[in-house]
Amino acid sequence: MVLDIKGNHVVICDSIIDELPKHLTEVRSNNIFILSDSNTNRLCVEPLLRIDALQSAHRIIVPAGDENKNLKSLAEIWRYLSQNGADRKSLLINIGGGMITDLGGFAASTFKRGIAYINIPTTLLGTVDAAVGGKNGINFDRLKNEIGNINPAKAVLVDNSFLATLDKENFLSGYAEMIKHALITSDEEWESIYRYDLKKRDLAELNEKVGRSVLIKGKIIEQDPTEKYLRKALNFGHTIGHAYESFSYDVQKPVLHGYAISMGMICELFLAHKLYGFPKDKLDSIVSYLKDTYGYMPFETTDYAKIFEYMKHDKKNEDGKFNFSLIANIGDLKLNTECDVAQITESLDFYRNVMS
Ligand code: GLY
Repeated sequence: MVLDIKGNHVVICDSIIDELPKHLTEVRSNNIFILSDSNTNRLCVEPLLRIDALQSAHRIIVPAGDENKNLKSLAEIWRYLSQNGADRKSLLINIGGGMITDLGGFAASTFKRGIAYINIPTTLLGTVDAAVGGKNGINFDRLKNEIGNINPAKAVLVDNSFLATLDKENFLSGYAEMIKHALITSDEEWESIYRYDLKKRDLAELNEKVGRSVLIKGKIIEQDPTEKYLRKALNFGHTIGHAYESFSYDVQKPVLHGYAISMGMICELFLAHKLYGFPKDKLDSIVSYLKDTYGYMPFETTDYAKIFEYMKHDKKNEDGKFNFSLIANIGDLKLNTECDVAQITESLDFYRNVMS
């Protein structure tokens, strides 16, 4: 199924081995490079080598883990491309989670001022968020996605069968972005996400919801590809969530992205309730759902200063002020909302109270 998103070619299929050759023919590159990490190389890349056009593809493998989405890995990819004859007509295929598609997308976008790349996400987080929309980049000086660009892939190819193999934590990490997409869209989308049985994890039902979720993101980036305004909606839960994620790495208790975003969404729903009267009954029900699903992301009042320090680097901030993407109700966006330290502190207190 080809999703109807202008500027971003996203295909959801049941077999990447059947789908990929068509795209390779379209790109017509005679020098193909495949980027993966130590996890995805064996499980996801090896089967692809049955495709004729990939028999002589070069393979670049970087160590797995978000901590390796850095300048060192980026330089290794550039160097490998350079030393193995990559030119402007070469193609980079990124196979992996968000770490690989962010890193590979940035390497491809900058090598010789830009070569084509295709993303094949292998995680739920990559599928519904990172691989789609062209945001690429690396972490720098302990700040997440500090350096990067926006440049969409030639194609994003989603193979439904990869989702069947995900462990619970990685599945839930991606599901947090689906929750976010639903909350910024409509009550109907939220109901559909809320009612899904996470324990049973029916795959056919999940595939249908994944398609809807990617389309929600797609329709937003189609209207605002470079994040002038509307795309900021996709940052709901991320101002505090991203800061907590960086903090968690800092204190060497890293949490997966979606878990940090579950914490960020609770804090930011509280801010939305305080500032815009986000309905109390919905606040209570969403908070209780997120609490049951993701549990507590621990921190103390003595950690607030560190979390604020990371929040200062949020890309939405303007003139040194904290800028949030909030919702006054499900689907009712309140973008560019400025919040002060006292309000944010109250939201962190709320999170810790509600979780204890
Ligand atoms: N992950 C948010 C965005 O792509 O804009």
